[in-house]
Amino acid sequence: MPRTIIVSNRLPTKVLRTNDTLTFHASEGGLATGLGSIFRQEGNVWVGWPGLFVDDEQEEGYVREQLRQDRMVPVMLTEAEIRDYYEGFSNSTLWPTFHYFPQFAEYEQSHWDAYVAVNEKFCAAVLEQAGPDDTIWVHDYQLLLLPAMLRAARPGATIGFFLHIPFPSYELIRVLPWARELMEGILGADLIGFHTFGFMRHFLSSVSHLLGFTAQNGRLEAGDRTILVDTFPMGIDYERYVAAAASDSARQHEANYREALGDIRAILSIDRLDYSKGIAQRLRAFELLLQRYSEWRGQVSLIMVVVPSRDQVAQYAALKEEIDELVGRINAAYRTMSWTPIHYFYRAFPLDELAALYRLAEVGLVTPMRDGMNLVAKEFVASKADERGVLILSERAGAARELSDALLINPTDTSQLAEAMHDALVMPEAEQIRRMRAMRQLVRQYTVFAWTDLFMNRLAYSKNQQHSLDTE
Ligand code: G6P
Repeated sequence: MPRTIIVSNRLPTKVLRTNDTLTFHASEGGLATGLGSIFRQEGNVWVGWPGLFVDDEQEEGYVREQLRQDRMVPVMLTEAEIRDYYEGFSNSTLWPTFHYFPQFAEYEQSHWDAYVAVNEKFCAAVLEQAGPDDTIWVHDYQLLLLPAMLRAARPGATIGFFLHIPFPSYELIRVLPWARELMEGILGADLIGFHTFGFMRHFLSSVSHLLGFTAQNGRLEAGDRTILVDTFPMGIDYERYVAAAASDSARQHEANYREALGDIRAILSIDRLDYSKGIAQRLRAFELLLQRYSEWRGQVSLIMVVVPSRDQVAQYAALKEEIDELVGRINAAYRTMSWTPIHYFYRAFPLDELAALYRLAEVGLVTPMRDGMNLVAKEFVASKADERGVLILSERAGAARELSDALLINPTDTSQLAEAMHDALVMPEAEQIRRMRAMRQLVRQYTVFAWTDLFMNRLAYSKNQQHSLDTE
């Protein structure tokens, strides 16, 4: 029976080392949830990096065995590979370029070489698992070369590729010295998926400029192969967030937070630490709100959760300092004995505490400069069972294409963002309900499970179609 192999840079389980002991932590990320039902089926596996460096054979054997029991196959990376492939080419070249921050991008031959080598390492790990007719689903920007490598080794395999981040304009792609190779790498897939139509359009434009292949109605004719290209906006496990928000534990945490805040109203922001998220711009907009509408002083607090991420990459460390400084400055300028303008947390929160924050906040502030989708926006909406609350959403997040009942803003426009916060705080309840109801319906319908099914069905279709063309 054909198997399905999921491949992503990170495995859904993260292995951590604390005081010389290894611990295994299941990821609560959207991808892990959505694909859980697939890779746990008989025979299927997930191939990826467990998130740590191991140089001891015995320890590596232990990690492999533990993960194997849960249907995962680790790809081990050396310290140099973590530096050059993960922190280097993936997160200091591709990430800034694809998020429209080319000024942060580095162009290092040694990083590119490591990127090729690690994609080959992933290829070898997948080939150990995959038979000639298996289905392989490759995820995200860290593995752009993998589809073509797999295609060369297994011409008959069914290969899907999904990009979780934006695909930028050709004008950004053309700056990369390795643009052509990257596009050829992706084209090894039978089906290529994006969150939005805009990303897909940019991708097709780059393919046409760099490789001369054109597409019609989502079919890309690439030499002797037809590749399907389509949009699949990713969703969340809606019921899980509804249940988390309704749980006793979330209610208890919310009551504790409410007691600590007193009557003060809450605006919530939750992100991984990343310059693409617009965190500093958001802080400046909150400061402007306090300047412009002094009536909110002492009345409203911003609760800001920043989850540590990629702290070995220079731009991330610099951003951390900028945020620390901004929060310190704004709090020092405005705080009183009974009111703190910004409650800033630099750490990850467990699901029940996140759910409590979603319940507590009247306004959800999701204002990335660029974002492939942004699932926090959807989680906030799912958690609002009473249909009260307002989502302020960047028009440059993929989620804005679906959540058009949010207050859509340009995250660079500090003044517009400050006005949106004010509008959200004074929005009549009937309007909040109308908007929230429409968004909840959408998030409930297009879950991460629906996303997985749609992609997998379309991938199977792409292969059937290829077969019928071959036999004509
Ligand atoms: C984004 C990317 C993922 C990545 C995640 C966390 O969502 O699309 O591929 O796994 O960020 O980043 P990290 O570098 O910690 O894996």
